[in-house]
Amino acid sequence: MSTRRASSWLDFVRASVGQALGHPLYQLFGLVPDWEFGLSDYDVTRHTHLHGVLAGRRAVHLTDLHIDRYCARHDRIIEIVGDLQPDWIVITGDLINVPEGLPHLFRFLGRLRDIAPLYVTLGNHDHYSGVSVAEYAELADRHKITLLVNQSAVIPVGGGELVIVGVDDPSLHRADLRCLPPRADHRFTLLLAHAPNVLDQVEPHHAIDLIVCGHSHGGQWRVPGIPTFWLPPGCNGRIAGWHRSGVHRLYVNRGLGWSFLPFRFNCRPEIAVIEWV
Ligand SMILES: [Fe+2]
Repeated sequence: MSTRRASSWLDFVRASVGQALGHPLYQLFGLVPDWEFGLSDYDVTRHTHLHGVLAGRRAVHLTDLHIDRYCARHDRIIEIVGDLQPDWIVITGDLINVPEGLPHLFRFLGRLRDIAPLYVTLGNHDHYSGVSVAEYAELADRHKITLLVNQSAVIPVGGGELVIVGVDDPSLHRADLRCLPPRADHRFTLLLAHAPNVLDQVEPHHAIDLIVCGHSHGGQWRVPGIPTFWLPPGCNGRIAGWHRSGVHRLYVNRGLGWSFLPFRFNCRPEIAVIEWV
């Protein structure tokens, strides 16, 4: 059964508004590149998973880069990721906001690729940017980065395997879970999705060991005493951390970047580490 449904007129309106608002704002803030707040101190969070074959392996999970220009903080992220010595790096979308960000993005991704094999999927802002999936795919290919858009990659490990599945953005109803492989012994299936509403789309028969996503930015601005007031459609109330639906577990990473305004308040960017024991 297909878990993808056609985009509705509401999605079209949302994408148009995202594009119409995003471009001028990013161009405006591009004129004052140092005008950023709350983006340069990182929390490194770790979660541990039991799996015989993958024991001792580690993946770093980044999300919501929103790179329009390369800043000093991007060097700091690369340094932190390098120190974590990952076997793999995964990124769950919102790579850029505007097409002008592409060279900066691939400079950053190329440096991550020097640390470990890199698996990437797309988010809503990657589509709002107007860059086509074919263009992302070509650039990824050129930089030896695995772009997964409703696709999976099988990585043999010892006597088993890690399968990394990347779906297109669930918040834009582009995720197609038919690319998930069936359950198998000695296999760990890691699902990369941009938006937390993927958890509303998975079904009990889907063989997934762990889902990681971003999209929420942890609310981006967290004022003490006031409930989270900014969450993009597709979060369905899931702001950060662990969430569960039946047998499936989802980790929502607060991400590294910003949407619409270059500020995060009381909401530190996050680098997550997936460790197998
Ligand atoms: Fe984002």
